Amino acid sequence: MWLSPLKLITHWVHDGLRSHLRPGDWVVDATLGNGHDAASLAQCVGPSGHVWGFDVQAAALDSARARLGDHPAFEAIHADHARLAEQLPEEARRRLRAVVFNLGYLPGGDHRVTTTPDSTLKALAAAIEWLADGGVLCCTCYPGHQGGESECHAVLDWFDSLPSHRGALTRIESPNTSAPSPFCLWFELHSSPTPAH
Ligand SMILES: C[S@@+](CC[C@H](N)C(=O)[O-])C[C@H]1O[C@@H](n2cnc3c(N)ncnc32)[C@H](O)[C@@H]1O
Repeated sequence: MWLSPLKLITHWVHDGLRSHLRPGDWVVDATLGNGHDAASLAQCVGPSGHVWGFDVQAAALDSARARLGDHPAFEAIHADHARLAEQLPEEARRRLRAVVFNLGYLPGGDHRVTTTPDSTLKALAAAIEWLADGGVLCCTCYPGHQGGESECHAVLDWFDSLPSHRGALTRIESPNTSAPSPFCLWFELHSSPTPAH
C-alpha cells in the first residue's frame, strides 16, 4: 500500500508520541482541528492524563468533541494558541510532556483560516517554556498552501535557533517530491540540561 508523505509523517508522529508518553501525562494539542491528533494523545495519556486542545474555530472544536466524545482527559479551548500561557493552569507549567502543532487549515473546513507565522512563533516560544524536562515539541508544517511556505521558513528558523544543549532536533521529510510536501520537526528537550560548549 502506498503511503503519502503526510500519512507517513502522521504515523511517525503518533508512534513517537506513543513511545514517549505514559498514562497520566499532561499534553497540549496546539491546533486541535478535527481531533485526530488529540484522540491519539488521549489514548496515550489515558483517563488520568490531560489533553488541552486549542483552536480558533468553533467548527474545529465541535468536530474534535464529536471524535473524542466525553473522554475524561480531554479539554477543548476556544483560543489562539499564542495565548497558551494564560489559558493553561499554573500547575501545568514545566509539566507538559508534549506540545503538538499541526499547522495549516482545517481539512473540510474554511481553508482561508490558517495558522500564521506570528501566532505560531509566539505559541512555540510559550510551549517550550511549559515543557517538562525530557518533553517533546512537535510541529508538522505545510509549505504547499497560500502563506504556508513563509510560515514553514519562519518555523524552521525558530527550531534551528534552539541550542543543542537544550535538546535534540529531528526532521522528517520527503525530499524528492515534485510539489512542496509536508515535513515534521520534533524537538526533544534533554532530561536535565547539559552544559553548553
Ligand atoms: C491542520 S489543522 C489541525 C489538524 C488536527 N490536529 C487534527 O488532528 O485533526 C490546523 C488547525 O489549526 C487551527 N488554527 C489556525 N490558527 C490557529 C491559532 N492561532 N491557534 C489555534 N489553532 C489555530 C485551524 O483552525 C485548524 O483547525
